[in-house]
Amino acid sequence: MPHPLAPQLLDQGDPNALADGVWPDGAARVDGAMRVGGADLAEVAEAHGTPFLLVDEAVARGRARRIRTAFEAAFATDADEQRVDVYYAGKALLTADVARWMRAEGLRIDVCSGGELAIALRAGVEAEAIGFHGNNKSLAEIEAGVAAGVGTFVLDSPIEVERVAAAAERAGRVQRVRLRISVGVHASTHEFLATSHEDQKFGVTVGEAPALVSRIRELPSLELVGLHTHIGSQIFDGSGFAESARRMLALHAELGADAPLPELNLGGGFGIAYTAADRPEPIERIAHSLADAVRAAADELGVPVPRIAIEPGRWIIGPAGITAYTVGTVKPVHLDGGVRTYVSVDGGMGDNPRPALYGAHYSARIADRASDAAPALARVAGHHCESGDIVVDAEWLPADVAPGDLLAVAATGAYCHSLASNYNATPRPPVLAVRDGAVRVLVRRESIDDLLGRDAGLAAIPGDA
Ligand SMILES: Cc1ncc(COP(=O)(O)O)c(C=O)c1O
Repeated sequence: MPHPLAPQLLDQGDPNALADGVWPDGAARVDGAMRVGGADLAEVAEAHGTPFLLVDEAVARGRARRIRTAFEAAFATDADEQRVDVYYAGKALLTADVARWMRAEGLRIDVCSGGELAIALRAGVEAEAIGFHGNNKSLAEIEAGVAAGVGTFVLDSPIEVERVAAAAERAGRVQRVRLRISVGVHASTHEFLATSHEDQKFGVTVGEAPALVSRIRELPSLELVGLHTHIGSQIFDGSGFAESARRMLALHAELGADAPLPELNLGGGFGIAYTAADRPEPIERIAHSLADAVRAAADELGVPVPRIAIEPGRWIIGPAGITAYTVGTVKPVHLDGGVRTYVSVDGGMGDNPRPALYGAHYSARIADRASDAAPALARVAGHHCESGDIVVDAEWLPADVAPGDLLAVAATGAYCHSLASNYNATPRPPVLAVRDGAVRVLVRRESIDDLLGRDAGLAAIPGDA
C-alpha cells in the first residue's frame, strides 16, 4: 500500500540509486560511497567540512557546449554563418572561474547588477561579451557598465532609456541596447499562460514598445540592436517559447520595418530535472521547435530570421552541482496516516532558500555509504529557526539514516549559492569545483569572523577589534 504521506510521483525504488539526469553525469557509487566528477564526497567533506556546494566543471562546461551547439544547429542556414549568441545568465551562479568556463565554451555573460558585472570583468571577461540586465539599475551601475564598455544594455523602462542615453553621452560613447518586452506569455514547467497584459515589473508591453523604440532611435548615444523577452523559468517544453517567439517576431517585424533591428533575444528558462519525476524535453528538441516557430513566423511576416540570442542559467549550471550536508538529528514524527522521518542537516534555507521561496523539490541520498535498509519516507530539514526551512520536502531514504551520515542533495548548482543568506548568522558554505577527481575552492567558506567584521558595534570592543 502506498505511504499516505508520500507524493504520488515520488519513486520508492532503491533509496541508494542515483537517477540519471538528476545527479551530475558520471556520479556513481564506488563501494557504496558517492563520487562526483571522480571525487569521493566523504573525502571532500573531510578536507573542506560541510555543508559544501560542489560543481563538476566537466558537466557545467559540457552543458554550456551542448546548449550552444543545439541552438546553433537549430538556427543554422546554408550560408553557414553563426546565427545564435548564448549568454550565460550569471544570476544562476557566478564566480570568476564559472565566468571563465563559460567564455571558454563560447558563451557570453549576462549580468544583472554591479556586483555581477564586477565579477565578470575581474575574471577577465571582455566587456564586449557582457549583457547588462535589470529593471532598476542604479546610476552608478549604469555608469560602471558604460565606462567598462559592456556589449549591450537591456533597457527595462522609459526612465532607464534616458538614464543610459545620458550616461553614454557623458562618456562619449554610442551604447548598444536591447529593449525588454513583456510579451504576455508566462510559462512554468508544463504549461504556459498567454495574456495580453502582464502585472509584473519587467520590461514594457507590446503596446508601449513602438513609442519607446522611436525615442531610443532619436537618441544619438544609443543604438538599438534588438528586442528581448524572458517568459519564466524551469520550463519543460517548447510550446511557451514558441508562442513568445511568434509574438516577438511580429513586433520585431513591425519595429524593424523602418530601421535595422538585427537581433532577437528570447531569454532563458530551460527546465531541468530536480527529481526523477521531472522530465524536461531534450534541449535539442526545444531548440528545434523554437527555430521552427521563428522561421514559420518570419516566413508568414515576410521578414528575414533575426540573429537569435538566448540566456540560459539553470539549465547549464543546475545539474552540475550538488550540496553535501552532515546529518545532525533524525526524528520520526507520527502523523495521522503515517510516520515521517525528519532528517535535520547542518545547512538549509541559508544555503538553499528555493524550497522555502517557491516550494521547490529536490532529491537527496546518503553519500558516504550505501544501505540495505528499507526505504523510509523522509523530510530533510535545515538548522534554521523557521518551520519552512526545508531542504527536501519528501524523499525515500534508507530507514537507518543516522546522525553523522553525509547527505547529498542533487541539482543545487543554480540559484543556491547566488540566493544564499546569512540567516541566523550562519556563514555561507564554500563553492568547490571538481575536475578529473581534483577538488579546488572557487569561493571560500564564510567564517564567523567575516560576519563579526561587518558589525560596527563589535569593532569598538577593546581587544576584540
Ligand atoms: C532576464 C532573464 N534572463 C535569463 C534568466 C535565466 O533563467 P534560467 O536560469 O531559468 O535559464 C532569468 C532568470 O530569472 C532572467 O530573468
